[in-house]
Amino acid sequence: MDTSCVVTGAARGIGRGIAERMVARGHRVVITDVDEVGVARTAAEIGAVEGVVQDVRDADSHRAVAEAASRHGVLTAWFNNAGIGDDGMLAELTDEQVRRLVDINLMGVLWGSRAALDAFEPSGGDIVNTASLSGLGPVPGLSVYAATKAAVVSVTESLAAEVPKGVRVHALCPDGVATQLVADMRDDGLAKALVHSGGRMLGVDEVADEAVALVGSRRIVRTLPAWRGGLMRVSALAPALVVRGSGVFAAQGRRAMRKSSS
Ligand SMILES: NC(=O)c1ccc[n+]([C@@H]2O[C@H](COP(=O)([O-])OP(=O)(O)OC[C@H]3O[C@@H](n4cnc5c(N)ncnc54)[C@H](O)[C@@H]3O)[C@@H](O)[C@H]2O)c1
Repeated sequence: MDTSCVVTGAARGIGRGIAERMVARGHRVVITDVDEVGVARTAAEIGAVEGVVQDVRDADSHRAVAEAASRHGVLTAWFNNAGIGDDGMLAELTDEQVRRLVDINLMGVLWGSRAALDAFEPSGGDIVNTASLSGLGPVPGLSVYAATKAAVVSVTESLAAEVPKGVRVHALCPDGVATQLVADMRDDGLAKALVHSGGRMLGVDEVADEAVALVGSRRIVRTLPAWRGGLMRVSALAPALVVRGSGVFAAQGRRAMRKSSS
């Protein structure tokens, strides 16, 4: 019997990496993206069965995507991956940026999860949310983005305990990944420096591998790399340390940025 899956925000970056792997695993993969040209091109390049133009802010669009996937096979996995990474302090962002971050990064995940839960067969399935390490502790310069990702981790953990047997819900929390999302951050901003403070940016391949490995597993939250996940959780327990220490991490990140560009 054919199985299908959905990957949102898959025209490029981590989503594309996830979709490629799910195609290789033999699933009939529906990819979606707000980038009309990109989603069609990527679908053709990676062998996805459909490239759907979708804005994840639209709840109805998720139901249509779920119906499309179910026509291709039994829906077994849904990756809520689409996201934006506007950086800047809360006071600096425009009202529109704040709204977009919440609507895409959080509401998009809620709408997608509801559509997936409705479309899964009694045999169940997996929902994998691309959250972020920033969702586990304070990240000055990226406060709204981090808040949306914290909410994604929170809803993942609650939902994992709400869903019927056979359904599993996961959140992947990677550190900085070398994608367009980070490239688009301000070069002189605090966020870009902190994202680089781990010393090495993750690659799409290793992040996509971890996302796909969550399918079928009992793991609910996966941090990548684990040591940075531990650091973020400690900083969440002692946020006053971040008030004093973020300058040190930012300096470390700027050194790593200079090293990688030289
Ligand atoms: N790059 C990182 O450092 C990093 C770290 C942790 C988590 N993440 C998360 O990984 C996910 C993928 O990001 P990426 O790094 O591959 O970035 P990316 O910018 O390369 O890819 C994001 C994709 O989402 C699409 N998208 C944006 N808004 C959309 C919308 N409203 N509806 C549908 N699609 C939309 C974009 O067109 C793009 O193709 C995001 O949720 C991001 O927050 C990224």
